[in-house]
Amino acid sequence: MTNLITALFIYFLLYLFLFNNHSNYVVGFTSQRQGGRSTIFYDFKVQTTRITKLCNTKDIPTINGMYPGPVVYAQEDDKVIIRVTNESPYNITIHWHGIQQRLSCWSDGPSYITQCPMQTGQNFTYEFTLQQQKGTFFWHAHVSWLRATLYGAIVVYTKKGVPYPFKFPYEEHIIMLGEYWMKDMVQIEQAVLASGGAPPPADAFTINGQPGPNYNCSANDIYKLDVVPGKTYLLRLINAALNQEHFFAIANHKLTIVEVDGEYTKPLTTDRVMLGPGQTLNVLVTADKPIARYSMAIGPYQSAKNVSFQNITSIAYFQYFGATANDLSLPAALPRFDDNLAVKTVMDGIKSLHPVAVPNDIDRNLFVTIGLNVQKCRSKNPQKDCKAKGGGVMAASMNNISFSNPNISILEAYYKNINGYFTEDFPGVPLKFYDFANGAPNNPPNDTNSLNGTRTYVLDYGTRVQLILQDTSTVSTENHPIHLHGYSFYVVGYGTGNYDPDTADFNLVDPPYMNTIGVPVGGWAAIRFVADNPGVWFMHCHLEIHLSWGLSVVFIVKNGEGPLERLPHPPADLPRC
Ligand code: C2O
Repeated sequence: MTNLITALFIYFLLYLFLFNNHSNYVVGFTSQRQGGRSTIFYDFKVQTTRITKLCNTKDIPTINGMYPGPVVYAQEDDKVIIRVTNESPYNITIHWHGIQQRLSCWSDGPSYITQCPMQTGQNFTYEFTLQQQKGTFFWHAHVSWLRATLYGAIVVYTKKGVPYPFKFPYEEHIIMLGEYWMKDMVQIEQAVLASGGAPPPADAFTINGQPGPNYNCSANDIYKLDVVPGKTYLLRLINAALNQEHFFAIANHKLTIVEVDGEYTKPLTTDRVMLGPGQTLNVLVTADKPIARYSMAIGPYQSAKNVSFQNITSIAYFQYFGATANDLSLPAALPRFDDNLAVKTVMDGIKSLHPVAVPNDIDRNLFVTIGLNVQKCRSKNPQKDCKAKGGGVMAASMNNISFSNPNISILEAYYKNINGYFTEDFPGVPLKFYDFANGAPNNPPNDTNSLNGTRTYVLDYGTRVQLILQDTSTVSTENHPIHLHGYSFYVVGYGTGNYDPDTADFNLVDPPYMNTIGVPVGGWAAIRFVADNPGVWFMHCHLEIHLSWGLSVVFIVKNGEGPLERLPHPPADLPRC
């Protein structure tokens, strides 16, 4: 009898998942697999949803009508199946940021890299396993600038019975940092690219989708976290903003960092943290201060010079039970927007919890410059189309190559041997050596424009890679959050100025294991990984405008010999271009 009831219940859930296409809620449910691992199903419908913020109403793309979008909950080693149906007028792909996609590159999501976008009415089912991954991640659209509103958290719990390496928190909360524009995102992107110039600053920053009371017409759009005096909270911080790196602080409270990019760290206590777009960070906060309402604030970290940015901070409330509703909130002390030292101080303290297995011998040693460029104006109407400094067109590049998207996906072209969409000649070292951090030979009137191209770098299966990322000052030095798909990497070193192998100081014992590294402004970072996940993997600056300008490259990792070293065939429902 019980078996019959269980069976009927499972059929009912399956029915909900497969046939209930018009519901507006997320279907997230679990079925047990062998070995205690589960399969988690979610149903994502991309819709347009009307929202009003800052006294302005617009239609934004959302998943199931939610902004921020639904949270994907799973456990380490689970299999996750997410069916995405595009009911919006936009072209859509979704990327699962930080998920390593072992042998599932087809489900990675960056448009024109691993798939073509889903057009209106199409759907695609993403499938991946959270192999040895746990912690805080997020998903976001990976096409045009749609991730401005299409994003949500991924929370992967430890396996049953496996504790955190710190005292179990009283509660856990997700804190997503974002940016909000009153105009349509696709139009903004097109207008910016057509102008050749810089993007407009965001109209507001947001915490869990709420701008907070500091902006015009947002007095009631405030995220509040009610806390019990004396308890410790785990906050899962995610910077899902488009173009802005952010400081985060809570008035009068210390933050203890315990995890970065889904990997445990040695506990590090600090007054504030900085997250670039694409970075996630778990902190513990104890509500051990007098009962009151404290502000939980984000404000810009803007390391580039001469850039206009939104400088009004967004606040939420960290509010003790017992505080009165009309208490004023105590202000949080955020660093100044250009406080590079505040960033460095925290970075210096981030180490893996335990000693780690860093690859010692290196097969490929790559040196890649990252920075902005001004390309020559080729328009007949320069006043309108060439708004970069000196009358040029803004671009960005790695090793002076500005990446351009092909019009089919590189993974498909590679897998099916279709010629003509990409080349395999991305240079492993810069085309020219100069004083990267201080000299600026690319500035007009010096004329060394970046070259446009869809260039990839091919790696044999199992290659042990060291990659030096070097910031340049060609337009302005800047902290760039560089994100690698398909892998996490050890950050073995970093510093200011030009990388010098003779003086660089490496940590090969307990370096952090990350998927997004904020390369220090005017400095460098050294990362190491073993290329043991075959596929086509994007590496790019997670500042969206830099991605649009070409600050990216693609690694192609070849199949190995063994059965678990080969990329499977593409799924049948992979969207066509
Ligand atoms: Cu979160 Cu390619 O990005």
